[in-house]
Amino acid sequence: MTIHNSIIKVEGLRKRYGELEVLKGVSMEIGRGEVVAIVGPSGAGKTTLLHAIGALSSFDEGRVVVDGVDVGTLGSDAAADFRNQRVGLVFQFHYLLPEFSALENVCIPALIAGRNKGEVEAEARELLALVGLSERLSHKPSQLSGGEQQRVAIARALINHPHLLLADEPSGNLDTRTRGEIHRLFFDLRDRLGLTVVVVTHDGELAAMSDRRLTIVDGELQQQSAE
Ligand SMILES: Nc1ncnc2c1ncn2[C@@H]1O[C@H](COP(=O)(O)OP(=O)(O)O)[C@@H](O)[C@H]1O
Ligand SMILES: [Mg+2]
Repeated sequence: MTIHNSIIKVEGLRKRYGELEVLKGVSMEIGRGEVVAIVGPSGAGKTTLLHAIGALSSFDEGRVVVDGVDVGTLGSDAAADFRNQRVGLVFQFHYLLPEFSALENVCIPALIAGRNKGEVEAEARELLALVGLSERLSHKPSQLSGGEQQRVAIARALINHPHLLLADEPSGNLDTRTRGEIHRLFFDLRDRLGLTVVVVTHDGELAAMSDRRLTIVDGELQQQSAE
């Protein structure tokens, strides 16, 4: 399959933990505006792959280019800036700061980036409206449901305008109905913001809804069947 205008290009990615080879030469490409599900058994290397793409951890061999940035060449400060500004990261647990409101949580990455507070707050309100939480701006995480907490985490991931959202089992902790709502939100954000979404998931429904599925088994990408 040929991808025009790719936002992610991974070539020959290898990662070892001691003797254990976790990624055994993974190559793949993801186009701008795609929603791609990464699936495969537990321990297959899905999180490791996502972390390499998001500059959350290093790798041993290969090349990872994300939104024009050669991730493997980044030093630790540049990697921190990359994570803060170039990618939105969402995990199974929301990691919201408990003592801050929804609005404040969404603002934090932008304030870290040194942006103007007034401008950031206005954008955070817009993003919280976009994820359906206009009525919850001053709620603390403990006053929000699991699905609402995850929506705040998604809004926070988008505050610095990344073109790419990386999500690792973002609905793994939610009940079936809430899970479906979060999944639809990813497609909505793609449609409204032109976002590219790469989501590691065990959820068959989300995998089926996605434009494309990449299956990882034992550190290797399975050959894709033609669609
Ligand atoms: N920090 C680490 N140190 C050693 N082994 C690790 C580490 N992180 C992950 N692994 C191992 O790498 C393999 C792949 O892990 P992971 O990418 O988290 O799998 P998945 O997300 O597909 O479940 C697993 O066998 C796991 O035990
Ligand atoms: Mg994982």
